[in-house]
Amino acid sequence: MEFATKTIHAGQPSDAATGALMAPIHQTSTFEQQAPGVHKGFDYTRTNNPTRQRLESVLAALEGVEHAAVFASGLAAEHALLLAYLKPGDEIVTPIDVYGGTYRLLTTVFEPLGCTVVRVDVSDLTAVERALSPRTRLVWIESPTNPRLLVCDIEAIARLAHAAGARLVVDNTFATPCFQQPFALGADLVVHSVTKYLAGHSDLIQGAVLAKDAATLQPVRFLQNAAGGVPSPFDCWLTLRGVKTLELRMERHARNAAAVAAALDGHPLARRVYFPGLPSHPGHAIAARQMTGFGGMVSFELEGSVDEAVAFVSSLEYFALGESLGGVRSLVCLPARMTHASIPADVRAALGLSDTLVRLSPGCESTKDLVADVLGGLGRLRSSSFGEPRHRALGAGR
Ligand SMILES: Cc1ncc(COP(=O)(O)O)c(C=O)c1O
Repeated sequence: MEFATKTIHAGQPSDAATGALMAPIHQTSTFEQQAPGVHKGFDYTRTNNPTRQRLESVLAALEGVEHAAVFASGLAAEHALLLAYLKPGDEIVTPIDVYGGTYRLLTTVFEPLGCTVVRVDVSDLTAVERALSPRTRLVWIESPTNPRLLVCDIEAIARLAHAAGARLVVDNTFATPCFQQPFALGADLVVHSVTKYLAGHSDLIQGAVLAKDAATLQPVRFLQNAAGGVPSPFDCWLTLRGVKTLELRMERHARNAAAVAAALDGHPLARRVYFPGLPSHPGHAIAARQMTGFGGMVSFELEGSVDEAVAFVSSLEYFALGESLGGVRSLVCLPARMTHASIPADVRAALGLSDTLVRLSPGCESTKDLVADVLGGLGRLRSSSFGEPRHRALGAGR
């Protein structure tokens, strides 16, 4: 079955009881039992729910495996995975610019428990090899990364991790299974912020852990019930609805991102443009090999002051200023003040995450309007004809 067909058919037969083409929402906490312990496979929604189960089989099919566990947020999914696999004394290797929320979870929850986080430039395979030790339990990568869209060689890192006896986890939020299939490249586990492209409409928070086999998912599945970070059946249904257009949306996101990146590339107010589809991007060759599309995100360093960057992100018409990405409506953010504000300033500087780095998540609006919006914002900046920023105070990070 081809990818777009899977988004609509995999694990989604018509409802057996009524023939309803679209699955019902099993909005219930509890299921009636015929006798104590005798039931139709469901007893309590924290443990299992038909709507959630349906979503788990769709997400698993899209990543080319059979096993998925869905959680109430991407970070709840990450937390369950880390708790399942890390114990005191273990080490985890992560990219230097790992997503800020993952960084916070690791440094404020898992390091105090006695785990060691080893941060490395994952585009340098020699550095990855050097970072591995007999205590390395997990290697955790994102590709492309948030927010600089750096790309790493998943297949080569899988080989290094496995040779060291570690498991490879890939956060596939940015690429989505539409553009990148980490299991085929050697990943043992995949995590998602479903909140983003998979759900796709900026109307829910959700996460997922997927594994290459049942045994690898089992400790995560246990924590899904034992710790209980599960999503509501209604949110699962919304994702089931959203994911049906994943390929259509990703094609439009990617086209819009490529057009915005091309418009920014060489612009005097864009010091550096990050988009894996640009031949000048250091990871372009790897991205062209391991992805079937370059993704829907573009970041760039604005040539100017932080105040000017704040003015720019606050002034756009179609790009709403906000946290998150991957929805049909375009979003813009200033990571240093928003999504990545929980990373200390000196660490951000060491990561090359400048205070004027702007992250754009082009939505599914028309390409022409989005390009004109970004260029118009830069044009106003150049002519210093900005009015008051619409959003004066940017948040302190999630
Ligand atoms: C790459 C990546 N992973 C994980 C997360 C966390 O997901 P959530 O916000 O759904 O908890 C995010 C959120 O922005 C993200 O960008």
